Amino acid sequence: MMKSRSVGIIGTGKYVPEKILTNADLEKMVDTNDEWIVSRTGIRERHIASSDQATSDLAYEAAIRALESAGLTAEDLELIIIATITPDTMFPSTACILQDKLGAKKAAAFDLSAACSGFVYGMATANGFIQTGMYKNALVIGADTLSRITDYTDRNTCVLFGDGAGAVILGEVPEGRGFLSFDLGAEGAGGELLKLEGGGSRLPASNETVQGGKHYIYMNGREVFKFAVRVMGTATEEVLRKAGKTKEEIDLFVPHQANIRIIQSARQRLSLPEEKCVVNVDKYANTSAASIPLALVEAAEDGRIKEGDTVLLVGFGGGLTWGASVIVW
Ligand code: UT7
Repeated sequence: MMKSRSVGIIGTGKYVPEKILTNADLEKMVDTNDEWIVSRTGIRERHIASSDQATSDLAYEAAIRALESAGLTAEDLELIIIATITPDTMFPSTACILQDKLGAKKAAAFDLSAACSGFVYGMATANGFIQTGMYKNALVIGADTLSRITDYTDRNTCVLFGDGAGAVILGEVPEGRGFLSFDLGAEGAGGELLKLEGGGSRLPASNETVQGGKHYIYMNGREVFKFAVRVMGTATEEVLRKAGKTKEEIDLFVPHQANIRIIQSARQRLSLPEEKCVVNVDKYANTSAASIPLALVEAAEDGRIKEGDTVLLVGFGGGLTWGASVIVW
């Protein structure tokens, strides 16, 4: 049998907008308080895009940092995937907009929709392209501007979300390194629990959809919470099994940053000490597709990941979906 290529992360970059919205700011906007937000979610502040920034602008900033860290230029890129649920426009895709901004003339480009699991889905997709030899490298970005689809009069959701982008460059790596396994999944039956209904082909934008708040995120928080705790556990077990690794071998755990209580429950199930778990939900809140790459890239930049470390990523989100991966750094 032909030996398959080892594919891994060869460059990283991240970006969050400058403007910060604190819990104290939100107290002035809706009936909430810092104590409730911190104890129920772990969130203290979130970054919010300026009015002239769209998702491709956040993605661009993360992309140029990732290219620099990989020692590549935009012209070297062969594939661009942006995982997002807040594209600049319905079409063209945000990946095509970014391809033009970067001047990545050789690159194929498309968006991928798997909500908060999108970045792991995107890496799995790019991994497949590189494994088959179709492309040598890929830029995979998780980027979302959730502030544009958040109802800032709804306290149930507006405290939870923030904006940002995280990017990685994938390429061939030495044998024994890179991605060991992926576990992707979906439970479409739970789609109603977390959705944005308006503006698609089922419910095109109209005065009624605007007045009915159909262009904002709707979420059944309690049910999504239960789903999250369940699949973070099962996906983690499955992806470790596929990688042939035990939970004791995990050097760093990078979970989706939605809620500190979900993160702690997943960490405890793996019997991992706090120092092996990346948490930045306090600073950025839930940034959807950007959440896992923001946590991963921040950990790498902080020197928390050494060469040869085993890193486990896991996320869940709208769809409903989940995605996990084991990487040897
Ligand atoms: O990326 C995937 C996206 N989604 C998630 O990961 C979300 C998963 N779910 C969660 O994180 C949690 O369910 C929430 C943080 C959304 C809510 O926490 P909870 O502990 O499940 O609270 P709850 O929904 O059971 O609400 C408890 C109470 C309610 O009041 P009553 O009905 O008990 O009187 C809410 O109205 O808290 C109230 N509440 C708030 N109070 C102050 C809800 N939001 C707020 C708020 N400030 N912002």
